[in-house]
Amino acid sequence: MNMDGKTVLVTGSTDGVGRYVAAKLAAAGARVLIHGRDRERARTLADEIKRQGHSEPIFYQADLSSLAAARQLAETVLAEHKRLDVFISNAGIGSRSLGTERRTSADGHELRFAVNYLSGFLLAHLLLPLLKASAPSRIVNVASLGQHPLDFDDVMLTKGYTGTRAYAQSKLAQIMFTVDLARELEGSGVTVNALHPATYMNTTMVREGGITPISTVEQGGEAILHLATGDDVAGKSGLFFNGMQQSQANPQAYDEAARKRLRTLSLELTGLSA
Ligand SMILES: NC(=O)c1ccc[n+]([C@@H]2O[C@H](COP(=O)([O-])OP(=O)(O)OC[C@H]3O[C@@H](n4cnc5c(N)ncnc54)[C@H](OP(=O)(O)O)[C@@H]3O)[C@@H](O)[C@H]2O)c1
Repeated sequence: MNMDGKTVLVTGSTDGVGRYVAAKLAAAGARVLIHGRDRERARTLADEIKRQGHSEPIFYQADLSSLAAARQLAETVLAEHKRLDVFISNAGIGSRSLGTERRTSADGHELRFAVNYLSGFLLAHLLLPLLKASAPSRIVNVASLGQHPLDFDDVMLTKGYTGTRAYAQSKLAQIMFTVDLARELEGSGVTVNALHPATYMNTTMVREGGITPISTVEQGGEAILHLATGDDVAGKSGLFFNGMQQSQANPQAYDEAARKRLRTLSLELTGLSA
């Protein structure tokens, strides 16, 4: 895809792989909407991009552990932009970010489920009118190979919480949503795919987890850019990629009844069903 003049929103682009992707998209001529919580980190990235002679990205600050903040982010983007060609839902927290205890979001939802999945679910839905008006357009959900089936009797993990399970169920939820939304968007010109960018990239979340990195940010970043801009994936939708390769997700992603339960729950939790 020629990115000249295209508008791309990358959540979680003040750090890690999202930062790499945002800089590459700006270098390719896109108008990049960067997002994160930290204005200083955004400023440093914007200066770096400008110094390299590319258009200055526009920063949106939002803490995605609050659904109201996610909603506000979408509303601002809708108000300020006439098109959105690519939405990369990348912001996330790792299995051990903020410690090993179970935590909840501003809305009282299990934190990893809220930040990694629910906020992206809400953003994608609210941004859909703009994505549809800009078709052909793409949504890329940055998920993971770390996937754990959701127990619909305890999605908020009030019993037997572990950060690894919380992270992995939030990542599978993103993939289930991807498969589901792709069906809904058939014929709209908007595609949606999910991926595992790379294993243990050298990023903050991996370092916070006390894990020794085994992949580079560039490896994962290129896999995200492939889904966001690659000509060979144009028109493809509802797929899960492991890096550059199309792959299979956990079986729950292909369980229609489970996806329906997740969709119903997510619409309720985000207030979209009202
Ligand atoms: N690293 C890996 O090996 C790996 C493997 C598989 C999948 N992934 C996925 O790749 C994505 C990016 O991860 P990364 O490794 O690049 O992590 P990272 O370096 O820790 O960056 C995470 C990004 O998400 C943002 N973020 C975190 N919590 C947020 C919140 N509550 N509200 C808004 N933004 C928030 C951060 O913003 P601040 O700058 O404000 O903190 C930052 O920009 C994640 O979805 C992750 O699950 C990573």
